[in-house]
Amino acid sequence: MKVLVVYYSLYGHIYRMAQAVQEGAGSVAGVEVQLRRVPETLPEAVLAKMGATAAQKQQAQVPICQLAELGTADAIIFGTPTRFGNMCRQMRQFLYATGQLWQNGAVVGKVGSVFTSSNTQHGGQESTILSFHITLLHHGMVIVGLPYAFQGQMTTDEVSGCSPYGASTIAGGDGSRAPSENELAGAHFQGEYVAKIAKKLAS
Ligand SMILES: Cc1cc2nc3c(=O)[nH]c(=O)nc-3n(C[C@H](O)[C@H](O)[C@H](O)COP(=O)(O)O)c2cc1C
Repeated sequence: MKVLVVYYSLYGHIYRMAQAVQEGAGSVAGVEVQLRRVPETLPEAVLAKMGATAAQKQQAQVPICQLAELGTADAIIFGTPTRFGNMCRQMRQFLYATGQLWQNGAVVGKVGSVFTSSNTQHGGQESTILSFHITLLHHGMVIVGLPYAFQGQMTTDEVSGCSPYGASTIAGGDGSRAPSENELAGAHFQGEYVAKIAKKLAS
């Protein structure tokens, strides 16, 4: 049983959430999890201007996802920061290259799931996840979100991401807020939940 966590993260928030998703999926017996990032599309000079060099260095050891890996996974959990309420360009470009996989039905019937981040609390987390789901549905994937069984998403005691659509984190207006314990717990839950469902589907 193989779960693939495929993400893009400019400043490291999605990377941190991806690690929690990875831990959650890896906590399920018999599940092997692989963490992969999608290729960067921005030149290094632009990354430097955007203040992302350190965060990129941190992720340098994470292998770039190969398209063929999508076809060999039993479940794929995608992580993307929001860009105007949609997935980021790097993820879109990666997905645009999956035409042949689509033609071959390579991921039909496999579990697909999405988590995200945004700077602001109402900055498009839900639209990012839901619009991402459209692509996964075109690929024939079985969509899994973050059920209310993860009770942390009910909180009104603190500012927090996470919704029934998937785990999420709020980076703050200036991007300085790190994923909270509650948000990381949501990401862990989603990873574990996806892995358990993938196991059931395969049995
Ligand atoms: C071009 C662009 C568009 C963005 N659009 C939004 C947005 O619509 N809403 C929002 O809250 N944050 C927006 N952001 C902020 C990012 O979502 C934020 O930097 C990201 O979630 C942080 O995740 P990361 O550290 O993994 O890159 C945008 C950032 C960029 C560069």
